[in-house]
Amino acid sequence: MIKRFTHATIEKNATLLLVLSFFVVTIGGIVEIAPLFYLQNTIEKVEGMRPYTPLELAGRNVYVREGCYLCHSQMIRPFRDEVERYGHYSLAAESMYDHPFQWGSKRTGPDLARVGGRYSDAWHVQHLKSPRSLVPESVMPPYAFLAETPLRLDDLADHLKTNRAVGVPYTDEMIAEARQDALAQANPDSDGVGGLVERYGNVQVRDYDGDPGRITEMDALVAYLQMLGTLVDFSSFQADANLR
Ligand code: HEC
Repeated sequence: MIKRFTHATIEKNATLLLVLSFFVVTIGGIVEIAPLFYLQNTIEKVEGMRPYTPLELAGRNVYVREGCYLCHSQMIRPFRDEVERYGHYSLAAESMYDHPFQWGSKRTGPDLARVGGRYSDAWHVQHLKSPRSLVPESVMPPYAFLAETPLRLDDLADHLKTNRAVGVPYTDEMIAEARQDALAQANPDSDGVGGLVERYGNVQVRDYDGDPGRITEMDALVAYLQMLGTLVDFSSFQADANLR
């Protein structure tokens, strides 16, 4: 009797199963990985993206330190419900300068990828000091101490340098002026604003925490939140070009 070569044969022979599984996985791997070797860059360049200013980067560090990502994602998925609620879905380029990225995997609160400009600075300050004073049902913890904590400026240049080491294109000048640029961004009357704008381009400059004269972690965090998702101009950007 001729023994038929069926799936049962493979299942009963561990070595054969292993060899054939390996073969199948290899094909899948080649199909997925090989094209990447022929692409110059896997992230499409998008106009408007720039590295974080020192103040925004400091705010981002506060965001990471306080674990905001445990409740907030920063990635709008390309589904209609998300796009209608949060705005244009996130582009890879929008997190190209993020080390570490803040995509998140948990949404106890809303996605923050495009929260910039959605509320006033005063709203953010009040909300961070006491979320329930604005949203009674909120479960977000209060962060009032940020408004009382002076921002550390002496290590800002080092943060820029560290980011440069992993590929963010900060120039020597940006690193040398990091402290001045942070002070200038939170003080519209300062002489340093010209230099800041020259170095970074599209920057929002103002006293973020409503407490002029001193620069706090609240200034930095609100500066970061207010720029989130605002760099790419979606009135002129055609994202569906890559879907075709
Ligand atoms: C325990 C979970 C939790 C943590 C931690 C948390 N949040 Fe929230 N956050 C929420 C919830 C829930 C909401 C929605 C209700 C509200 O607006 O307060 C929210 C709302 C927000 C909003 C308004 C978003 C919108 O589109 O309306 C911002 C901005 C925000 N959080 C920033 C932060 C920042 C910055 C941190 C870290 C300093 C943080 N959150 C930490 C749960 C959290």
